Amino acid sequence: MSLIVRPAREADVPEMSRLLIASITELCAADHGGRPEQLAAWTANKDEAGVRAMIDNAALCLLVAELDGRLAAVGAVVPANGEVALNYVDPGRRFRGVSKALLAALESELQGHGVIEAQLTSTMTARAFYHAAGWTDDDDRVACQGGSGYRMTKCL
Ligand SMILES: CC(C)(COP(=O)(O)OP(=O)(O)OC[C@H]1O[C@@H](n2cnc3c(N)ncnc32)[C@H](O)[C@@H]1OP(=O)(O)O)[C@@H](O)C(=O)NCCC(=O)NCCS
Repeated sequence: MSLIVRPAREADVPEMSRLLIASITELCAADHGGRPEQLAAWTANKDEAGVRAMIDNAALCLLVAELDGRLAAVGAVVPANGEVALNYVDPGRRFRGVSKALLAALESELQGHGVIEAQLTSTMTARAFYHAAGWTDDDDRVACQGGSGYRMTKCL
């Protein structure tokens, strides 16, 4: 098995878009409950134009994980905010260590920008995964993708 994490590039856009939409739709049902309006709002900026805009956004750093030569996860950080902004795995490649490797790379990216305390908003789906990776809950739930999410922090 070969697992690498690298910066996203323009040629990845169609596969990134497909993966993001599939991950949200198929894995995050506990969050969107299959509600069409919530799903549409959540995936609205994940079409190819939206992903291209993310790559072009200088404030975002986008990484992808490749498992055995195929895109397996997409992640992003906003260094200026110390924030993990995206972390989605292909539904067919769960539980193979892909998100763990990607999250470690995202945390390193933030650390490289001088971030000491990182932040994110977790889905309900990923909450236990982040706890296992050393993230802790802040006090409140916050509005997130038409539902609610959990603010978390981690000292890097
Ligand atoms: C939860 C999710 C992020 C985990 O990704 P993954 O690639 O399947 O996880 P990994 O294989 O990298 O697992 C890494 C570790 O976390 C643990 N883990 C994974 N999912 C877990 C869960 N739901 N609860 C508890 N632990 C979990 C694994 O057991 C593994 O631990 P180990 O290294 O001790 O064996 C992913 O399955 C998922 O559902 N993603 C949906 C998109 C999403 O919600 N993204 C977050 C947006 S904020």
